[in-house]
Amino acid sequence: MIGTRIREFLARIPLVRRQLKSRWKRNVRQRIATSADAKEAFTLIYKTNYWGNGESASGNGSSLASTETLRHELAGLLQRLSIRSMLDAPCGDFNWMQTVPFADGFHYIGGDIVDDIVARCRATYGAPRREFIVLDLTRGQHPQTDLWFCRDGLIHLSNSDIINALTCFVASGAKYCLLTQYNSVPENVDIATGLTRHVNLLLPPFRLPPPRMQLQDRPVGEAARELGLWTRADIAQAIGV
Ligand SMILES: C[S@@+](CC[C@H](N)C(=O)[O-])C[C@H]1O[C@@H](n2cnc3c(N)ncnc32)[C@H](O)[C@@H]1O
Repeated sequence: MIGTRIREFLARIPLVRRQLKSRWKRNVRQRIATSADAKEAFTLIYKTNYWGNGESASGNGSSLASTETLRHELAGLLQRLSIRSMLDAPCGDFNWMQTVPFADGFHYIGGDIVDDIVARCRATYGAPRREFIVLDLTRGQHPQTDLWFCRDGLIHLSNSDIINALTCFVASGAKYCLLTQYNSVPENVDIATGLTRHVNLLLPPFRLPPPRMQLQDRPVGEAARELGLWTRADIAQAIGV
């Protein structure tokens, strides 16, 4: 009892609170890095709210404020390219995407590897022509749609898993993909799937051609990035499938 009170008292001191938080972060990061597989890693991230945002389980970059520019630009691009169906994978908690206006009859499919995220999205936002499915970006048959939208997804995958995800996209028969791209990254480093680093898809080992179009993505307090548009043929040629 006294021990608990002392701990609670200490945790109110800002310096101690910061130290406890950074110790907790290190601990969870270690568990993520040594998870048995991607589903276990991202389920842990979701259940501990590891990305630490109060509004979205997908982190600061997925708040409404962070996606203000992007939401506007995405709606315009869907119209310009006459996109009628989209696989949004990973969809995360659908926090900001729920506000994007889709044309009548538009078919939206949100996919994520975490069962609980998909169940929550289905229960809260599921509707005719708006489905949510459990899907692993890096394997299996992905639904065929006009567009695969992949924001802040590849940054959490190892380089070989990124190639696997691009291969699945090509096999799906989708027309276009729109992928998070960091033009400012000078060299790609590899990570264990579940961690995070920025990726420049134009550089080795991916070597995609320059995107056909770019949307600006300007989250609050995070590095600026783009969403690059490529066709299925662009990706197939770059990765040789
Ligand atoms: C930072 S969130 C981005 C979500 C969403 N695109 C957004 O902009 O809000 C990353 C999401 O990727 C999901 N994820 C990670 N690896 C995945 C995989 N292999 N297949 C499907 N989803 C995956 C995680 O569960 C998490 O919800």
